[in-house]
Amino acid sequence: MPASRRGSGSVTLPTGQTIAIHTRTQDEEDLPHATKKTMADHLRKYDSLFTLTPQRMRMIVEAFTETLELGLNKPNQIVPMIPTFVFGWPSGKEIGDYLALDLGGTNLRVCLVTLQGEGKFEITQTKYRLTEEQKQEDGQKLFDFCAECLKTFVDTNIGEGPGQLKPGQSLPLGFTFSYPCSQERIDHGELIRWTKGFGATNTEGRDVAEMFKRSLEKYQLPIQLTALINDTTGTLIASHYVNPRTKIAVIFGTGCNAAYMEHVKDIGKIADLGIDPAAEMAINCEWGAFDSFEHEHLPRTKYDAVVDDTSNKPGEQAFEKLISGRYLGEILRLVICELIDEGVLFLGQNTYKLEKPYCFDTAFLSLMESDPTDELLMVIGIFTHFFALETTLAERQFFRALAKLIGRRAARLSACGIAAIVSKQGYLEEGCSVGADGSLYNKYPGFADRVHEGLQDIFGDKGRNIITHHAEDGSGVGSAIIAAMTKNRKDAGLYLNV
Ligand code: BGC
Repeated sequence: MPASRRGSGSVTLPTGQTIAIHTRTQDEEDLPHATKKTMADHLRKYDSLFTLTPQRMRMIVEAFTETLELGLNKPNQIVPMIPTFVFGWPSGKEIGDYLALDLGGTNLRVCLVTLQGEGKFEITQTKYRLTEEQKQEDGQKLFDFCAECLKTFVDTNIGEGPGQLKPGQSLPLGFTFSYPCSQERIDHGELIRWTKGFGATNTEGRDVAEMFKRSLEKYQLPIQLTALINDTTGTLIASHYVNPRTKIAVIFGTGCNAAYMEHVKDIGKIADLGIDPAAEMAINCEWGAFDSFEHEHLPRTKYDAVVDDTSNKPGEQAFEKLISGRYLGEILRLVICELIDEGVLFLGQNTYKLEKPYCFDTAFLSLMESDPTDELLMVIGIFTHFFALETTLAERQFFRALAKLIGRRAARLSACGIAAIVSKQGYLEEGCSVGADGSLYNKYPGFADRVHEGLQDIFGDKGRNIITHHAEDGSGVGSAIIAAMTKNRKDAGLYLNV
């Protein structure tokens, strides 16, 4: 019998659950594992597939920049560059109580935000988990659920104390709806397409603000929908509220996207609206759609093609599918499954658990990359606990290296997107801050460093002038600030019809 080793330790999962690991790890002798050399050979192949050279990155940036320009000047482009009707930066003097409702990729959140001016605020919030069924069933039902949660929140937070809603108080609400919507005014938004695996019926092509208002009426809520916003726009405004050097906001989470402030004179497609050309307006880029359908610019592997073909939206969100948290685990799983099919990995073991699409959470990549032990106990834990699979050290090192390749590619592509906005806007010399949020940015070890490294590969030393930082809560606080800015703008009689 071969010598068996015992590993021990514990793994804390993103859900907060902790698993104790007391695993007997076996060496090659009693199960037919791949040799160290085989794993190294395979790794070399994946390394060349997933690595982006600086030259390739610069080519992507060039195509990306042209795409952004096109979206600003022509309606209905693949990257739609959506004018948001959020005019300019907050003054810092926005004050008052605002509600914010945040329909993200995973949760629904209701917040009461008290803006105190000068970058200060207080927030009271409740989160509700969205089920897979809710993401797919009738859209009006989804908005009814939003209104129902809002009602529960309002009912449980009525009182005279700080952070409470005063009885009978009617409040303005900012609705953060983080899906591409084309807007004709700030309280309007026609859903162009669902992303992030959502597929609720009877919603695409319709005005979601109108649908939500219908739900507010149904629950008789004394609330006015003041602004429909995207999480990136909220992040842009909230980050600037606390750090005025912020010029761009990005989200790297379940989905990915960016927003920045544009001169109205440079948004060709709204030239006929009669808005002062010298005014500024936030643009929600919806850059997750870059290179959709035509797949001309991005380095897609066959695993990316499978992710795309088997998604509920084939062809769409091509950039997002290489980057965002919803897909990275699945890309890694597909590589492993290929090696299983080729007879390289897990011979003699039952791999059915790993064969289920999307069973390999992107959080596992973070956990594998941050495993501090020589034996890679975290990796043992993931494979035994979730997939009932025994691994050797050589295999675990391979999985970790693979996670690194996929995570690094995502960060470097993200840098390409940021670089495109920086080049287009001419921010490089002066430098700027980029407010960033989302689970990948916040929780994936080294993601931000890899983005910065990517920016230097693209721009050389000057790339150091572009610095990302963890953003303020755009979907809650940002949404409230935008509701306040909108109310102030309308009270001042400015652009009343948008
Ligand atoms: C959506 C964007 C959103 C991003 C981040 C994407 O899938 O299309 O609207 O900003 O995810 O949440």
